[in-house]
Amino acid sequence: MGTRKFKAAIIGFGRMGELYLREIAKNNYWDILYILDIDPSARDFAEKTLNELSLTAQVLSDDTAIFSDPEVDAVILTALADSRMGQIEKAVAAGKNIITEKPLSDKIENEWQVVKLVANSGLLATVNLPLRNAWYNLMLRDALRSGELGDLAIIRICHMTPGLAPGEGHAPEGPCFHDCGLHYVDLARWMAESEFKTWHAQGLDFWDYGEPWWLNCHGTFENGVVFDITQGHIYGQLAKDLTHLSYNDIIGTKGVARMTHDFKTAVVEIHGVTKTIVEERPFGDKNIDILLNLFADSLEKKSLSPLLPTLREAAMASEYAWRFLEDADKNDLPVRGDKKTLKSIINRRSTLNKGYGLLRHNK
Ligand SMILES: NC(=O)c1ccc[n+]([C@@H]2O[C@H](COP(=O)([O-])OP(=O)(O)OC[C@H]3O[C@@H](n4cnc5c(N)ncnc54)[C@H](O)[C@@H]3O)[C@@H](O)[C@H]2O)c1
Repeated sequence: MGTRKFKAAIIGFGRMGELYLREIAKNNYWDILYILDIDPSARDFAEKTLNELSLTAQVLSDDTAIFSDPEVDAVILTALADSRMGQIEKAVAAGKNIITEKPLSDKIENEWQVVKLVANSGLLATVNLPLRNAWYNLMLRDALRSGELGDLAIIRICHMTPGLAPGEGHAPEGPCFHDCGLHYVDLARWMAESEFKTWHAQGLDFWDYGEPWWLNCHGTFENGVVFDITQGHIYGQLAKDLTHLSYNDIIGTKGVARMTHDFKTAVVEIHGVTKTIVEERPFGDKNIDILLNLFADSLEKKSLSPLLPTLREAAMASEYAWRFLEDADKNDLPVRGDKKTLKSIINRRSTLNKGYGLLRHNK
């Protein structure tokens, strides 16, 4: 790593914007110059958080200063998907490098436009797909590449939590399997090192919302690997004590490797042909520290680190998440539960201060 400090502007100061700011406060390679949000209460919260962190930055309701200030090296785009394309267009026009949240836009055709625009700009850009830099996934992939598991045969990924409920936020990001599930679509593709070939998706319309809030998709990759992804924010939403179920299960022709976590600690177990390894370490959550360090290093070297996902990879994950949702639409979409239960869930989440995927207005 170099010694230069890069200067950033955060656009969108909700849950993710705050996470970035807190990481910047601890980071040796980044300073914050501006924070922008269209919501006055988010701007107030930004001022409070800057104070708490002993940082100074201009908090804005308009982006003119950000895009006209030559000091800004990169913009961090953490608003919602419906405003992202416009922000990326402005960043490219102003020559600002980009760290963006997923998805790149609320429409897949716009995502591909953005991919092209940025690819032709000569700027550096990456997307926050934190599972690719999670220590446990790197360890699973290393086990796979080492030959300890034989040939990769099956990838099983499950992520079910009592997280963001239907109608609670993130509307432009689409149904749960697009908003959150695209991370697991990306992970499966990254692990298989191949393209999706066939699929069949089954959804379930929880609480009569009108969209699947749980989805299971299985199918094959071009290289013959089989996948099975299950994702939903439907897991015991009204349980007295909240819980979740998350695992990655990598099945080879000779051995297996798997990971589970409780959002605090992740445990990897590798049962290879010559060794068994069990490793337990802090989970790492969104790995924004890793992202900021790798992006600073990329700016220093004027070349995107191969450890960082490209915009194209994010658009691929988004496109397949949409395709799997479309497939689920063609199959039976049963309804379980009712709107009254959904109301109870949303009411309960609005009073929780510790829970899964709570947006700030819920805290
Ligand atoms: N990579 C990940 O693991 C991950 C996890 C959670 C969320 N996300 C993504 O991050 C983004 C933000 O999610 P969040 O949970 O922080 O949402 P949030 O609702 O908490 O925050 C969004 C903020 O953006 C602001 N905003 C909306 N439109 C704006 C605009 N045009 N200009 C400036 N500000 C604007 C809102 O006022 C709000 O403060 C979403 O796109 C989501 O998909 C990614």
